[in-house]
Amino acid sequence: MNTVKTVRELRAAVARARNEGKRIGFVPTMGNLHSGHVALITKATQRVDFVVASIFVNPLQFGAGEDLDKYPRTLAADQEKLLEAGCDLLFAPTVEEMYPDGMAGQTRVSVPQLSEGLCGASRPGHFEGVATVVSKLFNMVQPDLAIFGQKDFQQLAVIRALAHDLNMPIQIIGEPTVRAADGLALSSRNGFLSEKQRAVAPVVYRTLNAIAESIKQGERDFPALINTQIKQLEAAGLRPDYLEVRHALTLRPATAQDRDLVILVAAFLGTTRLIDNLHLNLDAPA
Ligand code: PAF
Repeated sequence: MNTVKTVRELRAAVARARNEGKRIGFVPTMGNLHSGHVALITKATQRVDFVVASIFVNPLQFGAGEDLDKYPRTLAADQEKLLEAGCDLLFAPTVEEMYPDGMAGQTRVSVPQLSEGLCGASRPGHFEGVATVVSKLFNMVQPDLAIFGQKDFQQLAVIRALAHDLNMPIQIIGEPTVRAADGLALSSRNGFLSEKQRAVAPVVYRTLNAIAESIKQGERDFPALINTQIKQLEAAGLRPDYLEVRHALTLRPATAQDRDLVILVAAFLGTTRLIDNLHLNLDAPA
């Protein structure tokens, strides 16, 4: 696996693969890779002939006071994992390479509606930063398909929308969340949890399952359901940011008639913000 740091080198390497008739798959990341990322690369190797990954901690998607500076940078370990997973090319640019003219005047991509609410409400500008960097990366790599984790459910919806709305000929694939044995969704931020907090964290996924079970059994008073479970999270020592039942495609607040639902949660454990979700399609075969 080759690692390149400039757009020029990236384009040259991808062009060589294209000239050999290869289909290109792309897995954008911010590094500090775990089994969830490895699953995305593995999926890509099954779908295409040439897999490109990127590692870039994108300052544009971090708000003031968020964890940009302490976000783990583990390039050497990440390179090993990518190599082992079958990645062909790693693009690991600097901030200057991605934003040569600075970020203040950078053209932005914003996806209204889907970016509002949930993480968009508590992290203003976050999805504009994500949509902008992903659009730039898509234009640099020009892949046939790109793969993202479903853990970032709202992010995936935003990226699907931008690719569709901007007529990018890229197939967007969402892959199921990879979880620890106790249910905690794998995340680079889990490393910030103390041993005690790590033991508490699986309550987030248990909460999602408890809500899903109640809905399956016919409960449709979503506010009441959510209130009860918010209290459970608080009792376990978390500070919920949001816990909501939404329509899985539009992300609008769910109505009692909706069948394709997603339950989404963000909650602080100490200073670490955990997010997770559970997709519940009531019409899917059991
Ligand atoms: O999910 C992530 O790791 C990031 O938001 C992404 C998609 C790589 C954009 O920086």
